[in-house]
Amino acid sequence: MQSSRIFIVGSGVVGAATGEGFLKAGHKVTFIDVAPARIAELAARGFDVRSEIDLSGEPESLLFLTLPTPNDGHRYDLSAFEAGTTAVGKALAGSATRHTVVVRSTVPPGTTEGLVENTLEKHSGMTAGEGFGLASNPEFLRAVSAAEDFAHPWMTVIASRDPQTVERLRDLLSPFGGELRTFDDPAQAEFIKAAHNIFNATKISFWNEMWLVAQKMGVDLDPIAATVARSAEGSINPQYGIRGGAPYGGVCLPKDTNGFLGFADTIGVDMPLLTAVVETNDRLAAIVSDEVDTASHAASHAQLRESAAHGAVTGGRQQHEPA
Ligand SMILES: NC(=O)c1ccc[n+]([C@@H]2O[C@H](COP(=O)([O-])OP(=O)(O)OC[C@H]3O[C@@H](n4cnc5c(N)ncnc54)[C@H](O)[C@@H]3O)[C@@H](O)[C@H]2O)c1
Repeated sequence: MQSSRIFIVGSGVVGAATGEGFLKAGHKVTFIDVAPARIAELAARGFDVRSEIDLSGEPESLLFLTLPTPNDGHRYDLSAFEAGTTAVGKALAGSATRHTVVVRSTVPPGTTEGLVENTLEKHSGMTAGEGFGLASNPEFLRAVSAAEDFAHPWMTVIASRDPQTVERLRDLLSPFGGELRTFDDPAQAEFIKAAHNIFNATKISFWNEMWLVAQKMGVDLDPIAATVARSAEGSINPQYGIRGGAPYGGVCLPKDTNGFLGFADTIGVDMPLLTAVVETNDRLAAIVSDEVDTASHAASHAQLRESAAHGAVTGGRQQHEPA
């Protein structure tokens, strides 16, 4: 395997695990950080760590942005992320070689081709895809097992407009194993990371809401949840909702969501998540119904109503109708 030149920009939990993983795989890694304590810590462990990026005289390299993206209330605070990206843009300006910038931080969808691309182009004087490569490669590791998760990922997601950049990252990351999926739109990779975390959070809140009902009834929820997890196929079967843009329909899901809400009410348990599930479905049903009405100007009203009644909707979208 060919050894790559790698810079880790932001050497905290994710940066350190990423850099150490690449070092163990035989690549040449330099860590960048702005916190003196972090720099001293990594230097004491024998790593090449610097406070500034300098690409002059460097061969073609990959620069991984593993900068912090904390919350500021209900928003991401991207100020440190932007500052680190600015430093990378300035470093690119001082190099005659084509480098590749890889966004590994968790960022709002659209950031790679928005904030990152604009900042790098502004400070480097180059164009993305020409003067430098640009990709999204979100990290899925857990802080408690960061090094182990990096070394043995269950999923690797790579996205770039430039097929050569995708292949460059595939060569670098595929030796670590796990499933590897590629996309041409960086926003898709960013969205995957966001939706992955939000789905997990929603799943936890869903079972906690159910736990409140079960606790009120004196029923042990854990074996119930474990059995539903095996029976509901919810994660993989498209019939059960892993394609977007269509409401659930049929008889059972509308009946049982509303029925359970009423049941919980009778035992005095509030179910805000289930209420939101029903509301979201009503909203989607209204959107689809509007589309049917709009399309009816172009086609026979009667035909469309009939197909909608059978679960078919415009644009090839169909209701989710599990048995
Ligand atoms: N921690 C996790 O488990 C985890 C898992 C997946 C993804 N992520 C995401 O990865 C990103 C990094 O998270 P983390 O947990 O490693 O954060 P962290 O706070 O541990 O590390 C960030 C590092 O970046 C440094 N830094 C700040 N500004 C800098 C700059 N301008 N230039 C260079 N370095 C700078 C900080 O000093 C710090 O050492 C975030 O977007 C986070 O959401 C985190």
